[in-house]
Amino acid sequence: NAGPAILPSVLNCDFGDLMAEVDRLRQAGAEILHLDVMDGHFVPNLTFGMPIVEGLRRHTDMPLDVHLMISDPLAYAKPMVEAGADLLTFHIEAVSDPVDVANKIRDLGVGVGVAINPATPLSSLDVCLGSVDMVLVMSVQAGFGGQSFNPVALERIRELRSRYPDLLLEIDGGINTETIGPAREAGCDLFVVGSAIISSDDYTAAVSELSDAMMS
Ligand code: DX5
Ligand code: ZN
Repeated sequence: NAGPAILPSVLNCDFGDLMAEVDRLRQAGAEILHLDVMDGHFVPNLTFGMPIVEGLRRHTDMPLDVHLMISDPLAYAKPMVEAGADLLTFHIEAVSDPVDVANKIRDLGVGVGVAINPATPLSSLDVCLGSVDMVLVMSVQAGFGGQSFNPVALERIRELRSRYPDLLLEIDGGINTETIGPAREAGCDLFVVGSAIISSDDYTAAVSELSDAMMS
């Protein structure tokens, strides 16, 4: 079981200066990057696709944790792996056969995660938990950075942790110095952080305050 680790999301960073932003995040102590891919269809927002992932892959050694907020994850899984994704997470709400999606992603040679929005019943994951490496418990409705934390995620982390001691658990949305400690306490391993780092003018201080809060 990896972790605990803080994974910065570049969603709200300065895309005009993306590689320098990534360097600043690495310098601040980040070891894994979280990349939010949105298609304007599964979620009402658009971000980026393979060219950015590929550019980041050439720029950094950091593992790339790719969060696919897209309606057809299988259509883009192979190009995303070719672009350099190390872990691909699809949304349970987007697919009709999550076991098939997980197996096909695994066959591409990368880690597989399944993400779940706060409004989706946790039981919808049951069928595929044996087929994934990680569950991404959303603590906001997927689509935008800067939303406030939904505590239903804590109950979900607690329940999944008690049922599956070895499953990797990631939380995403509204993670800051107030919410990271309770998420850790609930049993989470990986903590995605967007605005709490990116809106700070000192990424190093922001990451270290988050890791202090996570451990306390
Ligand atoms: C939301 C994305 C998140 C987002 C988190 O749909 O999946 O990764 O960047 O941003 P904050 O930390 O601002 O909620
Ligand atoms: Zn995300």
